[in-house]
Amino acid sequence: MKTIPVITVDGPSGVGKGTTASLLSNHLGWHLLDSGAIYRALALKVLNTDAETSDIDTLVELAKNLELRFESIIGEPTLVYLDGECVNHDLRQESCGNIASIVAVIPEVRAALLQRQKDFRVEPGLVADGRDMGTVVFTDAQIKIYLTASAKERAKRRYKQLKNKGVDGNIRALEKEIGARDARDSNRKVSPLVPADDAIVIDTSDLSINEVFQLCIEMIDKAGLKANLER
Ligand code: C5P
Repeated sequence: MKTIPVITVDGPSGVGKGTTASLLSNHLGWHLLDSGAIYRALALKVLNTDAETSDIDTLVELAKNLELRFESIIGEPTLVYLDGECVNHDLRQESCGNIASIVAVIPEVRAALLQRQKDFRVEPGLVADGRDMGTVVFTDAQIKIYLTASAKERAKRRYKQLKNKGVDGNIRALEKEIGARDARDSNRKVSPLVPADDAIVIDTSDLSINEVFQLCIEMIDKAGLKANLER
């Protein structure tokens, strides 16, 4: 059976994984999995149903029965529907990101969401971004990329993003939040945020998004992976 190729892009929050993965999926004409959106959708469901983040049984039930649909056309932003409603805007709220990182610590929740992520691996190929794409979900990926940057630099980038959206931010508070999220993601027992042994680590602190993209393209060319040109 032919193996469907996968490129994984892991790393901490605010490092540019989403942008890099999206550029790569456009370049290759492959599908895109933003696995964080699945955890964020569960977080939104938790908020909408007033579930307690300490009530593991309820969280697992919510994760198993999550009515989640991704509408994606290669080259266009993916639309996420939860219970039939487009929730892209809600998912980007800090509250969703924070609750996502709290529920993501629970092994049973991660197990309940695993197959949903694997199901994204369809022809012609997949670019998957998250925390454990290379270490747990797609361990046989053809290329594993791990992006990193200092918390200070990531807070600066987040601040700029917010400013561009006309939202006021506080760099110190953002850095603190990013640090807290990093600690939760890195110190959990199951699927902690670590580079896979066979990942290529890129420190993006002093690189533009285009420079990161070019480094990834070099890896793709070296690995002989081909773009799907029938679009
Ligand atoms: O990537 P994003 O910031 O959207 O992810 C939100 C949270 O979901 C992360 O902080 C992390 O705790 C969790 N997550 C995870 N594993 C993934 C993707 C996201 O634990 N593969």
